[in-house]
Amino acid sequence: MALHSLRGFRDLLPPDSALFASLEAAAREVFALYGYQEVRIPTIELKELFVKSTGETTDIVEKEMYAFTDGGGREVAVRPEGTPGVVRAYIEQNLSQNGRNAKFFYIGNMFRAERPQAGRFREFTQIGAEHIGNASPYADAETITMLVRLLEKVGLTGCSVELNSLGCADCRKTYRETLLNYLRLNAATLCEPCKGRIERNPLRALDCKIDGPALAEKAPRLSLCPACEEHFARTQQLLKISGVEHKVNPGLVRGLDYYTRTVFEVRSSALGSQDAVCGGGRYDDLVKSMGGPAAPAVGWALGVDRLAMLLKDKPAPDHSPKAFVVAASKEAGAKAYELLTAVRAAGVSADFSSFDLSLKSQMRSADKSGASFALIIGEDELKAGTCAVKPLKQPGEQKIIPLPETPSTLSQLLKG
Ligand code: HAM
Repeated sequence: MALHSLRGFRDLLPPDSALFASLEAAAREVFALYGYQEVRIPTIELKELFVKSTGETTDIVEKEMYAFTDGGGREVAVRPEGTPGVVRAYIEQNLSQNGRNAKFFYIGNMFRAERPQAGRFREFTQIGAEHIGNASPYADAETITMLVRLLEKVGLTGCSVELNSLGCADCRKTYRETLLNYLRLNAATLCEPCKGRIERNPLRALDCKIDGPALAEKAPRLSLCPACEEHFARTQQLLKISGVEHKVNPGLVRGLDYYTRTVFEVRSSALGSQDAVCGGGRYDDLVKSMGGPAAPAVGWALGVDRLAMLLKDKPAPDHSPKAFVVAASKEAGAKAYELLTAVRAAGVSADFSSFDLSLKSQMRSADKSGASFALIIGEDELKAGTCAVKPLKQPGEQKIIPLPETPSTLSQLLKG
């Protein structure tokens, strides 16, 4: 049987790979504007990290983690998301000592054993941002604004920013009881996994793919304490100042356990059922609960695969070489190879097929390559130490140029 990739895992080929790279480059530029620095966290961590942070009763931890016992008998997991690793690094590396605000970004692949469907993969790429050590609504507004500016920069249109507040531990204590009573009374209508988890974490039922939509309509709503109310109102006011359109969605609960106060998602109906391009929120208690200092935080992660699906129809960047080097005879091969090296060293992209092939075949490849010029070395050029520069895209005369001058003349021609 022929070898094949696993279901939910895929090869990223050109032009998609170029689109991914351009989205990542745009993100790096935006992060620099907002003072974020890159962290590269491990792909595999102790399983316990995700159980304690993402949450024991979440779908991610209960059903979707690639977890296994390694050769040393340790229970480990391949990261399903980036936030727990960043928080672990923040605590383990003492990063809180460099001042109150730590602003990190990461770009990396995450792994979740979900049922694959359009826009849902088992390995996918996230661009994530975490701002640790800042409790103020200015941080919420700044991070959401940064996200929206990034989406604008890459040309995404037609999506909506949805916002909610999940309150603090105090707001949730009372709500937990009210919700639990409601869920117990209506247990017969719940799906089997929810029946099993409501006693441990009633909030998860609100996010359940099966029960969530109906509960969002009927279940009692959380009421915020005055401090959380003020935080939420201020966040919305600041978003208005930065020109970020958004709508409040009281049914937005997010599927991870660590959130407090502000949560948000960017959605696009063009994606179908997997409509979230980005999700995030505040997690004020997570760092402390993981053994670190009291460091309130806020962040988000953008699904690059879904973003790329939405931008697929935009013209892909042109990666054609500028020049294509051709040797008209076997003897000219070594000189042509030397020229190819010199042109690339001068910063001009150049390619070739094989100097052992016929002139006709090499010229066919040159035409197909999308290059602007063919650089041809034939018998005459070899003897005279020159090269024939032939325009491929536009009409024009072939020019004979001394070999040492070819890279600089080519640069000039490309500018002109
Ligand atoms: P999340 O909502 O689980 O949040 O994931 C963020 C984004 O990753 C989603 O909106 C989606 O675009 C993408 N995504 C998730 N699962 C898949 C999948 N199976 N296939 C393709 N794309 C997917 C988090 O991961 C949090 N760590 C976000 C965060 C950071 N909150 C605070 N800081």
